[in-house]
Amino acid sequence: MRYRNTWEDAVVSKMEKVADNVMQIQIIPAGDTAAFTVGSHLDIAVLINDLPEIRSYSLVGRYGSNKPYTIAVKRLPASRGGSKYMWGLKEGSKLRISQPTNHFELSFNTSNYLLIAGGIGITPILGMAEELMAKTDKNVRMLYLGRSAQEMPYIEALQKLLGQRLTVHYSDIDGFFDTSKILNLCDIETQVYLCGPIGLMNAVRKTWENGPLNNQNLRFETFGASGLFAPQAYTVKLPRFNREVQVNENQTLLSALLDVKIDVMYDCKKGECGLCQVDILEYSGDIDHRDFFFSEEEKGKNKKMCACVSRVANGNITIDTAYRG
Ligand code: FES
Repeated sequence: MRYRNTWEDAVVSKMEKVADNVMQIQIIPAGDTAAFTVGSHLDIAVLINDLPEIRSYSLVGRYGSNKPYTIAVKRLPASRGGSKYMWGLKEGSKLRISQPTNHFELSFNTSNYLLIAGGIGITPILGMAEELMAKTDKNVRMLYLGRSAQEMPYIEALQKLLGQRLTVHYSDIDGFFDTSKILNLCDIETQVYLCGPIGLMNAVRKTWENGPLNNQNLRFETFGASGLFAPQAYTVKLPRFNREVQVNENQTLLSALLDVKIDVMYDCKKGECGLCQVDILEYSGDIDHRDFFFSEEEKGKNKKMCACVSRVANGNITIDTAYRG
């Protein structure tokens, strides 16, 4: 069951570019800033193609009673519209925001931690690094991976905070990152907190699944579910309804189906709950699975996909919806 948001008015108090294509946005709620734990996110009401939608953004850093909420938004050329909307805000812009909610809780029941951030996945991880470094009985190491220094926010702050405990990997200089290396940084007690693009998340999950360590100790947060292919338009056939539906490149399969009044159950719209799954009857090209609900093995079979995030690249698809109104 999805949590229920309470919403309130808020205002953008500061917009600041903190890396190429990354805008830090400070937001002051109409009421008091609610206390939150690191790993929390805010839901923000946005307009995409003039239609209301909700986007989730991790809160950067730790809670401070007089501090505004801080998020950082990467401008994505293949955005479904959320980052474009957020980048279009100005200081003084009005927003509707949720209370902070945490689906990526940092647990304090061990001594050893490895934090892994890929690109804009740094946003929830920064506060975790601050929180753990403030405790004297925790050993923390961190891996921060990105394309280039120019595109990675908060590097200096992290170097200051973590010193030798931080490893930064720039793929334009250092090349491919071999995720099997993370196993050398972990023992049976180490908890790993991971946030990054889907390619990194899948690689780390696979390394972990094939390694000797406890699955419970790998914890991750998804953000916006980027895929392996740039979004493309494609056609969906639904033999049950004798319909053909076009999914545009800036639209999800779920929204395309709902637009033509084909009922599909959904909840999270982030590829986490699996409620929106549809049966794949036939396809050409590639299924770009962008969800975190199905296992790697299930994704490999290409029998089902999550309509809220997953797409088809270089082809078309025939599906049956799991729920028929
Ligand atoms: S609505 Fe939750 S996975 Fe699609």
